Amino acid sequence: MARVFVTCRVFPEEIDRLRAAGHSVVMRELPGPIGCQELLDGVRTADALICLLSDRIDAAVMEAGGRLVIIANLGVGYDNIDVSTATARRIVVTNTPGALTETTADLTFALLLAAARRIVEADAYTRAGSFRGWELLQPHLGLDVHGQTLGIVGMGRIGTAVARRGHCGFDMPILYHNRHRNEDAERELGATYVPFSELLESSDFVSIHAPLSQATRHLFDRDAFRRMKRTAILVNVARGPVVDEEALVWALEEGEIAGAALDVYEQEPKVHPRLTALHERVVLAPHIGSATTETRRGLARIAVTNVLAVLEGESAPNAVS
Ligand code: GLV
Repeated sequence: MARVFVTCRVFPEEIDRLRAAGHSVVMRELPGPIGCQELLDGVRTADALICLLSDRIDAAVMEAGGRLVIIANLGVGYDNIDVSTATARRIVVTNTPGALTETTADLTFALLLAAARRIVEADAYTRAGSFRGWELLQPHLGLDVHGQTLGIVGMGRIGTAVARRGHCGFDMPILYHNRHRNEDAERELGATYVPFSELLESSDFVSIHAPLSQATRHLFDRDAFRRMKRTAILVNVARGPVVDEEALVWALEEGEIAGAALDVYEQEPKVHPRLTALHERVVLAPHIGSATTETRRGLARIAVTNVLAVLEGESAPNAVS
C-alpha cells in the first residue's frame, strides 16, 4: 500500500480510484494555498504527491519527501517544480497536457473580447443605473476584433486553438512567434511566422501562450510595449512572469498600449495594485483558464491515472521528466 499526499481538495471519485487500488490518501481540505511547513510535513511519509501549479516543489520538498516516486502536477505548466532535481532523484514528474487546451482557448477569447468591447466596464455601468438610452457616442466605444491581426506568442496546443478561433470565427490574420515553426498552423490557419519584434509591431491583439522559462521571463518588458501598437491589447493566460508587470502598468498608464486582459500575474495571488486601479480596457481574471467543472475533473483524472501507473511500476502516460 502506498501513501498519496494531495495538497488541495480533489473530486471525490478520483480519490476513490486511489483508495480502490489499495492506496492510502491524505488530502488537504483547507481552502487557500498550502504553507511551506505543511507541505514538508505532508510529503514526509508520502510515496506520491498530487499538487497544484501554485505549490512550489523545490529541492527541500523532495529532500523531505525522501520516499516520493511521483509528483503529479494538476496543470499543464510545471515551472513550479524543480524538474532537474526530481530527475536526479528518479522522481517522475507529470502534467496534464491536452485536457485544458480548448477550455483555455475559450477563456482567452472571452478575455480578449471583454477587453476590446469593454464588457466589464459596461456591465458595471449598467448595474449602477447609468444607462440612460442609446447614443451614437456611447461611453463604452470599443475596438473591433473581427478582421484585426492576432499575434500569438507560443504556437503550441493552446496557441493553435486560440489562432483557430481567431481565424475561423473572427476572420483574423494570424501572426505567430515560436521556438519552432508550426507548419500545421501555417497550412491550416494561414498563420505567418514572424520575428518577435515584427509580431509586436504588426499585431492588434498579442496573446501569450508560451511556457515560463529563462528565455521567456520578462519577455514583455518596456521595450516590447514600446514596440506594440498604441491601439493594441495584450492577453496573457500563460504565466505571469512572462510579463514584467511593472512595465505593463507603465505601458497602460502611459498609453503605450490600449489595454490588457490577464488571467495570470507575476506574483500570484498578488496583483500589482496599480493594475487593479486601471479599468479602461483592462480585464483581470483570477487564473481561471482551465476552470470549467469538466476540465478540472479531467485534470484530476489525468493526475490520478499517472499516480496509479507509477505506483504499479508502469511508466507514466504524461511524464515530463
Ligand atoms: C494552468 O495555468 C496550467 O498550466 O494548467
